[in-house]
Amino acid sequence: MDLSGHVAIVTGGATGIGRAIGMKMAEVGADIIVSDIDSDACQRTASEFAALGVRSAGIPANVTDPDAVGRMVAESIGQFGKIDVLVNNAGVAGAPGWYDHAVSREEDWSFTFGVNVKGMAIVTEAVLPHMKEAHAGKIVNLASVAGRQGRPTFPHYSATKAAVINYTQSLANELGRDNINVNAVCPGLLWTPMWGEVGAKYAVNDPTYEGLSAREVFDKMIENIIPLGREQTPEDIGDAIVFLVSDDAKNITGQSLNVDGGAFLN
Ligand SMILES: NC(=O)c1ccc[n+]([C@@H]2O[C@H](COP(=O)([O-])OP(=O)(O)OC[C@H]3O[C@@H](n4cnc5c(N)ncnc54)[C@H](O)[C@@H]3O)[C@@H](O)[C@H]2O)c1
Repeated sequence: MDLSGHVAIVTGGATGIGRAIGMKMAEVGADIIVSDIDSDACQRTASEFAALGVRSAGIPANVTDPDAVGRMVAESIGQFGKIDVLVNNAGVAGAPGWYDHAVSREEDWSFTFGVNVKGMAIVTEAVLPHMKEAHAGKIVNLASVAGRQGRPTFPHYSATKAAVINYTQSLANELGRDNINVNAVCPGLLWTPMWGEVGAKYAVNDPTYEGLSAREVFDKMIENIIPLGREQTPEDIGDAIVFLVSDDAKNITGQSLNVDGGAFLN
C-alpha cells in the first residue's frame, strides 16, 4: 500500500484510534493533518508523524463548531494545497459523567448526536467543495458495532452510530458521480479510555457483568461475543482504513466494514 502524495485530515486524530489511523497512513507515505479539540495533543501527535518523514500539521477544531471547522479546512488547504482523504473519527460515548446514570439523559442524547453525527456532517460539508473540485476523494466515517445492533447500556450512543452507517450510505449515493468514495468502519472491542467508561456502565447495569471492573467486563465480553477470541486494537482500525482510502478499494463505496473479530456477522 502506498499513499505517498496523499493529504489526509483525521478528526479526533490526536489520541486513541484517530492517532493510530494517522500513524498507519503516515507509515505508507500520507501527509497528515491532525485535527482535534485538544490543541496541545494535536501538535504533539503531528510532531510524531513528521518524525516519520511525512508532512504533518496539528490544526485544532471542535467538530461541532462550523466556524472553527471552516478555519481548519481553509488552513489545511493553505498549507497542503488539497485534501484527498477525510477520516471522520472524532466521537464521544456520552455527555461528561454519562456512565454514572442508569438511563440516558437529555444531555447524553444531544451532546452525543452533536459530536458523532452533526459534527461529522459539519466537517464533511466543509471538505466536500475541495474534493468535488478535484473530482476525487475518499471519506471514511467511524461508526461502531454498537450501530449494527442496539444493545442495552447506552442507547444514545448506539443510535448515533446507526445514524453514521446510514449517513455513509446517503453520502456514497450522492457523491459517486463526483468520484468520491464514502465508507464506514465499525470497530469492535478496543481497550481505550472510552471503553473504560463503557465497562463501568455495564458493571452496574447488566446482570451478566455486575460487580466486575471495567477491564474484567471487557475481557468477559471478548470471551462471550467474539468468535476470534481476541480484542481489537487501534492499529487494526488503521490498517482497514489504509485499505479503504487506497486505490485498491476504488470500487468500494457505501459499505460499513466490521473490524470486530466476527462479533457481528452481517
Ligand atoms: N474505543 C472503542 O472501543 C470504540 C469502538 C467502536 C467505535 N469507536 C469510535 O472510534 C472513534 C475514536 O474512539 P476512541 O476510542 O479513540 O476515543 P477517544 O476518546 O480515545 O478519542 C477521541 C478523540 O476525539 C477527540 N474529540 C472529542 N470530541 C471532539 C470534538 N468535539 N471535536 C474534535 N475532537 C474531539 C478527543 O479529544 C480525542 O482525541 C469514535 O468515533 C468512537 O465512537 C470506538
